[in-house]
Amino acid sequence: MVVDMRSDTLTHPTDEMRRAMAAADVGDDVYGEDPTINRLEAMAAARVGKEAGLYVPTGSMGNLVAMMSHTQRGDQVILEYEAHIYHHEVGALSSVAGLLPRLIPSDYGAIAPAALRAAVSQAYPRTSLVCLENTHNRHGGTVLTAAEMAAVSEVAAGAGMKVHLDGARLFNAAVALGVEPTVLTRHVDSVMFCVSKGLSAPVGSVVCGTKDFIGRARSFRKALGGGMRQAGVLAACGIVALEKMVDRLAEDNMRARRLAETIADLGGLGVDLSRVQSNMVVVNGAPLGLDAAALARELAARGVKGGGRPPSSVRLVVNRHHGDAEIGQVVEAVKDLNRAFRS
Ligand SMILES: Cc1ncc(COP(=O)(O)O)c(C=O)c1O
Repeated sequence: MVVDMRSDTLTHPTDEMRRAMAAADVGDDVYGEDPTINRLEAMAAARVGKEAGLYVPTGSMGNLVAMMSHTQRGDQVILEYEAHIYHHEVGALSSVAGLLPRLIPSDYGAIAPAALRAAVSQAYPRTSLVCLENTHNRHGGTVLTAAEMAAVSEVAAGAGMKVHLDGARLFNAAVALGVEPTVLTRHVDSVMFCVSKGLSAPVGSVVCGTKDFIGRARSFRKALGGGMRQAGVLAACGIVALEKMVDRLAEDNMRARRLAETIADLGGLGVDLSRVQSNMVVVNGAPLGLDAAALARELAARGVKGGGRPPSSVRLVVNRHHGDAEIGQVVEAVKDLNRAFRS
C-alpha cells in the first residue's frame, strides 16, 4: 500500500456526494438561476456570518476575485511573507489584478500589528488591502487565533484598509481552536474557503462578504471565465461537504498531531511540534543528512508520498483517506528511515 500524504486536495468525493450530484437541481448560474448553487452560496455565507456568497471553481480564483473587488489597479496589498496567494497562485495578483504585493515576515503566519502599521506608514502607493491565511499552508498548517486576526483587523480599519482571509482550510482552523468559524471571520471583510481539500468535494470554493462586494466579485468571476452555468451538480457536493464533513476534520488534525509526536519520540527525523496545529506535519531530513528531494525519495521508497519542502523538509498532510493503518505505515517507514540513515 502506498500512503499518499502530498495534500488534502487528493481527497475523493464521498458516496453521498456522488448521489447528491445525480439528484441536483440545476439552472444557468450566470443568470443566477441554479438553485443548488444559490443554496450553497446562502449556506456558506451564513456559516461565516457574511451577507452573501459566490461559488467559484477554485480557491485561487476566489482569492483573485476577492482582491480585485477590494482594490484598484496599482494599489498595494499586504500579505504575510509565506502567503499562498504570493507563492502559489502564479502571480495573478500582479499580472491580472495589477496589485503590488508587500510582504511582511512572521513566525507562523500572524502579521504583527506593529509591522503592519510600519508598512502602511511607509507606503507610497495606496494600500487598500491586507490578506491573512488561516490555516497557514507554508508555515505548516499553523492556526491564527481570533485575537491575532482581530489585532490585524484593528490596524487595517484604522488605516482604511480591507482584510481578506484566504481560508482555504478555514474549517481546519476553527475545529483546531474549537470555535465556530464566525469567531474568526468576524474580523475580516471577506473570506474564501474551499469545499474541496479536507472537506472532500471534488471542486469548488466559496467567497463571502457584503452583497455589494459579492456583486463585484460576480462580475470578475465572469471576466475570468468562472461563470459555470449548470454547476449545481458540483455545488451539490459542496453542500454535503458543509453539512457532513466539517466536524470530522478534528480526526485529521488529531492524527497529524499523534503522528508528529510519535516521530518526535522516535528521534532521528526532525519535526517541530510547535507548528503541528492542524492536519499537516513537516518532517526535516537534516538530522539524517537528507535534503528535501532525498527525503521525499527515501519516504516514497518506503511507501509514503509527501511533498518536498526545500531545503531539507517534506510535508505530510493527513486527510480522510488516512486511518490508523495508514498512519501506522508512515510510522514504520520513519523507523526504517531512521535505522538506515542515523549514524
Ligand atoms: C492556503 C491556500 N490558499 C489557496 C489555495 C488555492 O486553492 P485551489 O487549489 O483550489 O486554487 C490553496 C491550495 O492548496 C491553499 O493551500
